[in-house]
Amino acid sequence: MADVMGRLAELAGVSDGPGLTRLFLSPSHRRAADLVAGWMQAAGLAARIDAIGNVVGWNGVKGPRLMLGSHIDTVRDAGWFDGNYGVLAAIEAVERAGELPFGVEVIAFGDEEGVRFPATLSGSRAAAGVFDHAALVGRDADGVSMGEALLAFGGDPNLVAAEARDPAQVLGYVELHIEQGPVLEAEGLAAGVVTAINGASRYAVSVAGQAGHAGTVPMAMRHDALTAAAEMVLAVEAVACERVDVVATVGALSVKPGAPNAIPGAVEFSIDLRAPVDADRLEAASAIRAGLDRIAVSRRVDYELMQTHDAPATSCAPWLQARLMAAVEARTGRAFSLPSGAGHDAMAMAALCPVGMVFLRCRGGVSHTPEEFLAAADAEIGVAILVDFLRGFSRA
Ligand code: HGY
Ligand code: MN
Ligand code: MN
Repeated sequence: MADVMGRLAELAGVSDGPGLTRLFLSPSHRRAADLVAGWMQAAGLAARIDAIGNVVGWNGVKGPRLMLGSHIDTVRDAGWFDGNYGVLAAIEAVERAGELPFGVEVIAFGDEEGVRFPATLSGSRAAAGVFDHAALVGRDADGVSMGEALLAFGGDPNLVAAEARDPAQVLGYVELHIEQGPVLEAEGLAAGVVTAINGASRYAVSVAGQAGHAGTVPMAMRHDALTAAAEMVLAVEAVACERVDVVATVGALSVKPGAPNAIPGAVEFSIDLRAPVDADRLEAASAIRAGLDRIAVSRRVDYELMQTHDAPATSCAPWLQARLMAAVEARTGRAFSLPSGAGHDAMAMAALCPVGMVFLRCRGGVSHTPEEFLAAADAEIGVAILVDFLRGFSRA
């Protein structure tokens, strides 16, 4: 059997930047994909890297398949466990489960975080048959398009559509993932079953003002893009704070020309908006737009808002929840379920098949930071839950 924690440590060393940074279609993504493919083969799976960079391992049993997996791309300066644990746990569980009477496919998606290009969930959307080919022209900070990066990676934009799975051949998708929140730790539980995943919208905002000399332009005559953007960022925060269960984040912002003695003429920033109820998310989005309109007029700037991602709230299949809950209760002594505020590839896979997720406790609930931590004992409980689920599934 493999050493999941040892492999996580090895995988954490496959990075393109400070700490752990492994963006979609980057050189480190390619190295990680090759490493994961080797581990899949060592577990007895037929492994390949598909046209959009996902690593796919199949147990060789013909007929409808159960899909397991998560993602191996990361945010910048990430923790070791987000995504990567779910992939390695799935490989280990399939090996430990031994002979199964149904097909199993383990998949390591390559673009769950959506950090490099405007689109996100590209790998899981391709597998689910809902990939938007317009995403291929989206460019990264260096001006490289997803299509160009895919060719350099060894993928093929022309074959992405063919990666769509036939729904009749997929029994369901199950993903293990760290909770990335504080609930399980507060409950003193190692694991819990996910009920639903919050819907998410992402936007790119461009604010256009007038650059100028910081020393000569009177305040009343300025069209300062950064002070306008700053008021807009606070307006985004206010919309979320005024609503229950709505969260909104401005995580990235850039200023031009970016000189201390130049009035900012152009600002770009991101908006990440989420809620468990889609109607609430859409209402909050229109409130944000109204706020940006008001601020643009009062500060005499122009702005553009472009939506770059939209994923409806996703319910996990009740029958999968029930089967996973039996395994969770057997291993932890308690049946516990919880919603997910974080997004996951399961949101895209829900377009293809029933989905289920199991969360594992992570220390302090922190994630998307090097402080992210999953205890070895909890990691092992997660694998055992998946093994029990697989063996129980074969008796279905
Ligand atoms: O943003 C998210 O929720 C996920 O970690 N990509
Ligand atoms: Mn993740
Ligand atoms: Mn993440």
